[in-house]
Amino acid sequence: MLSIAIVISGRGSNMRSIIEAKEKQYLDIDIKAVVSNKPDAAGIEYAADKGYRTEIVDQTLFEDLDSYNRTLKNRLEQLDADLIVLAGYMRILPPELVDTFAGRMINIHPSLLPEFTGLNTHRRALNAGKEKHGASVHFVTAKLDGGPVIAQAEVPILKKDTEEILAQRVLQQEHRLYPAVIKLFEQNRIKCSGNYPVLDDAPLTEPITINANSDITNGIT
Ligand code: GAR
Repeated sequence: MLSIAIVISGRGSNMRSIIEAKEKQYLDIDIKAVVSNKPDAAGIEYAADKGYRTEIVDQTLFEDLDSYNRTLKNRLEQLDADLIVLAGYMRILPPELVDTFAGRMINIHPSLLPEFTGLNTHRRALNAGKEKHGASVHFVTAKLDGGPVIAQAEVPILKKDTEEILAQRVLQQEHRLYPAVIKLFEQNRIKCSGNYPVLDDAPLTEPITINANSDITNGIT
C-alpha cells in the first residue's frame, strides 16, 4: 500500500480532500502523518480529530532557517513514507531537502504552470486578462514551482470573477485533482525521470488535463 506524509501550513482543505478520498475508498493509502510548520494550522486540528498522527516543526522555535529545514528533513525521513505530499506548505524548501526526496515529493500549485509561479496567482491571472486558469500538481525540484508537471485542472475565467470567486472555483478543482494524481502513485503508474514525469512507462510531454466535467471516478489518464 502507498504510504504518504502530508505537509501543510494552514487551512488544509487539500489535505482534507485526500483524507476524504481515503475514507470513500477512492484511495487505498496509508497516511503516516500530517506535518505542519505552524502549530495553529487549522488542518492539524482536523487531522488530529480524525486520529491521524500529527507532527509540528515550528519554524519560530529555530535559531535559523538551516536548522529548521534540517529538522524538517529528518522528521520527514523518519516517517519513511513512499510519497511526500505538499498541500499548502507555504515555505521554500532548500535543495538538500528537495534532493533527498527527488521523485517522491509532489506539490499542488494554484495556476496552470509554468504560468504564475509564486504567490497571488488568482489576482495575477485576472490582471493578465487570461481566459483560463487552474491548478497544477508537479514533482518538487529545487526550482520554485518549476518541477515536471504531472496534471492540471483547468478552470475558465468568467467576466464577473473576483479574486475570491476564482480562487474558490480553482480550489474545488484542486480537491478533485490531488487525489486523482495520488491515485496514479498508488497504482504505481507514475514516476519522475529527469525533466519529465513518466506515465505507464512513457514520458509525459504534456500534463494530463482535467476540467470540471472530467469523469475521474476511476482515476486520470
Ligand atoms: C491551495 O490553493 C494550494 O494550491 C496553495 O495554497 C492553498 C492551500 O489551501 N498552494 C500554494 O500556493 C503553494 N505554493 P489548503 O491549505 O486549504 O489546502
